[in-house]
Amino acid sequence: MNKDELIDILSDNSKNDWLFKEADRIRHENVGDEVHLRGLIEFSNICKRQCKYCGLRSANKEIERYRILKDEIISLSKNAVNLGYKTIVLQSGEDDYYDTDKMCEIIREIKKLDVALTLSIGEKTYNEYKAFREAGADRYLLRIETTDESLYETMHPNASYKNRVECLYNLKELGFETGTGCLVGLPDQTIESLANDILFFKELDADMIGIGPFIPHKETPLKDVSKGDFWLALKVMALTRINMPDINIPATTAMETLNPNGRIIALQSGANVVMPNVTSTEYRAKYEIYPNKICLGDAPEQCRGCIEGKIRSIGRTISSEKGFRKKV
Ligand code: SAM
Ligand code: SF4
Ligand code: FES
Repeated sequence: MNKDELIDILSDNSKNDWLFKEADRIRHENVGDEVHLRGLIEFSNICKRQCKYCGLRSANKEIERYRILKDEIISLSKNAVNLGYKTIVLQSGEDDYYDTDKMCEIIREIKKLDVALTLSIGEKTYNEYKAFREAGADRYLLRIETTDESLYETMHPNASYKNRVECLYNLKELGFETGTGCLVGLPDQTIESLANDILFFKELDADMIGIGPFIPHKETPLKDVSKGDFWLALKVMALTRINMPDINIPATTAMETLNPNGRIIALQSGANVVMPNVTSTEYRAKYEIYPNKICLGDAPEQCRGCIEGKIRSIGRTISSEKGFRKKV
């Protein structure tokens, strides 16, 4: 679809039923009915950045910070493998405590468990990404957040849009399966810029795209901004599936936070991946990127059972493979 077609569909809700069904059909035809589960470990909520939307920004003094060290990360990973996960996702704030050597040690240990490994730890240099890749990391998630350069730089004090884009192209060049995505509902974000986001995903030839509605956090500069619209986020996701039939698209946690059935609706509108939390319960409430996150009181086993039941209830199955993108 070209930009005008994207804008047309994004601004007209009368075509929503068609859009969601079409994205579901294209998902079924290209990536099938299996859902890939990725076990998410939120291993540090310490962050040096100031993203205006995020509760982990360093200026927020109201949250208790934590770091999970190597041995505990490995034991959480082993538990996830025992629960049947074939991919581990390590996510954190931009926390310089985990330097390249520490990260590479963790990567090598996890890769001994015969799983795919995804990192989501922010902007690093080319050489740092290279070291992570050589240590065995398979995938990297780094959302562009928005392709509106001026909005990007307003939302990210002291950060550069060009560097964000360069990081993504570096990850691609290094052979990572590269994931990106955007927030829907940032202040002053336009429909046109959401259309540009979808075109950017295609231009990058991203392997994974995560779309999340923005949810305001009271300890951030965006505390009084309205939350993003669940249905608009779902439309951006469905259009992404139509434009990129063979990629992996998660039904995001933020979608379920805004709609109690959000992940299942997303799985029926183009998504084929879910990322349940496998962090131990004691840390979950502290990884408060936005309020009312789901699963805060649940343990890894509970989330696994819960999501499996939901997926089966809509006639889908859980993949027993690592779930790399199969390019068509
Ligand atoms: N620090 C890494 C980074 O920023 O890429 C990874 C962790 S960060 C918490 C993961 C994602 O959380 C971001 O890409 C952002 O889109 C999302 N996020 C942060 N604050 C949010 C909010 N208030 N509402 C919805 N999503 C949010
Ligand atoms: Fe830090 Fe990521 Fe939150 Fe930005 S979005 S403040 S980089 S954890
Ligand atoms: Fe965590 Fe449902 S996925 S309780």
